[in-house]
Amino acid sequence: MKEAHRGSACAFRARTLRATDLPWVVRVHGRVEVTCTSCYTHPVNLAYFDHAATTPLTSVARSAMEPWLGPTCGNASSLHRHGKRARAAIGEAREQVAQLIRATPSEIVFTSGATEADNLGIRGGAWAAREDRGARHVLVSAIEHPAVLSSARWLGREGFEVEEIPVGPDGVVSVAEVRRRLRRDTALVACMAVNNETGTIQPVTEIAVAAHEVGAWFHCDAVQAVGSSQLDVQATGADFVALSAHKIGGPGGAGALYVRRGLSPVPLLVGGAQENQRRAGTENTAGIAGFGAAAEEVHRNLTTRIQVLERIAQRVRATMTTIESAHRVGAASRCAPHIACYVIDGVDSETLLYALDLEGIAASAGSACSSHTMEPSPVLLAMGLDTPTAKSAIRLSWGPSTTEQELFALADVLPGLVKRHRTLRKETV
Ligand SMILES: Cc1ncc(COP(=O)(O)O)c(C=O)c1O
Repeated sequence: MKEAHRGSACAFRARTLRATDLPWVVRVHGRVEVTCTSCYTHPVNLAYFDHAATTPLTSVARSAMEPWLGPTCGNASSLHRHGKRARAAIGEAREQVAQLIRATPSEIVFTSGATEADNLGIRGGAWAAREDRGARHVLVSAIEHPAVLSSARWLGREGFEVEEIPVGPDGVVSVAEVRRRLRRDTALVACMAVNNETGTIQPVTEIAVAAHEVGAWFHCDAVQAVGSSQLDVQATGADFVALSAHKIGGPGGAGALYVRRGLSPVPLLVGGAQENQRRAGTENTAGIAGFGAAAEEVHRNLTTRIQVLERIAQRVRATMTTIESAHRVGAASRCAPHIACYVIDGVDSETLLYALDLEGIAASAGSACSSHTMEPSPVLLAMGLDTPTAKSAIRLSWGPSTTEQELFALADVLPGLVKRHRTLRKETV
């Protein structure tokens, strides 16, 4: 049986496991190895539970990128045929991304990712509001991604008055608190659709309504909502919406800002007239084409995709209930179907993550951007967790490509590791 796989990629890798497939688990030097179900010898990369950090590039996105990585890739601003082809590919991707969020193509501005989109919506939006109507007040939720929080804090250095909206222990931004802080001179309010660390769904439609009542614009970071919910920018009422390709199976380094028709955030990048003068710089045609293809695939399969994510969520929950004193963080009634954060009493999340990694399981403690810092997650602290509790939280996130085998590996490995970790900690105290 070994022979069948020698020198060539195992067929196992090329397909997603069916629910009926039985993974083959062995222990090598005490460590769990899951092997190929065809040859029972080929070790398989165990489990990736960090889709909120980044998702695997889908084959559809990869194929869409390929033509733009070779010698005939033109600059979309050039007049020759290569340029025209690139322009057409970008146009198609613009339609695909717009369709995913029910926008019109002209409302999509391609960027280098959601970080740039957040910067453009918040800084460019606030600058435009100051130029338009002298507005100088900005409200931003305390649980935003650093791309949003840092953009808002930057505005603080430029003479804006920036207030952070606190959240309760359930991790949900209070609409009443937003309303209490809104002023006639509020330029912009920012709140994310789904928190990237807890998976908590935020009341963005209600916040948009409140912001509009005083004439402020509403910026929504929807990076973690796309692909896990039916995101409709018309229904949400957001003026700016930030999106990222690599969270939905597209490549890193591509994203977009939805800009409601008629609004013009002040550009952050000046130079050429690309993106209808809203974002200068030669377009990343390959990245944009990959983003478009990923968006189209998500849009086409959205209903099934959400059902699959929900089924996986149930399995993850079932595993976590086998761990004593593991508590889900965030409002139970507002959980996105692809992210869950758990405080596991008596565990140091960093040590646990290293131990999980040794077993081939990738998970995270807080957002990827802050996971090198050893600091407790600011989101969890904003929810009122104390430092030791915040340092015992792990985030599990998954996608439609998560396999039965990965779920099996998680269920097999995590409870035992937690037990061992707790025992070791007790012995060393
Ligand atoms: C909620 C949220 N906003 C913004 C970003 C930044 O996205 P990008 O990596 O495309 O810059 C991320 C990525 O982790 C995110 O989760």
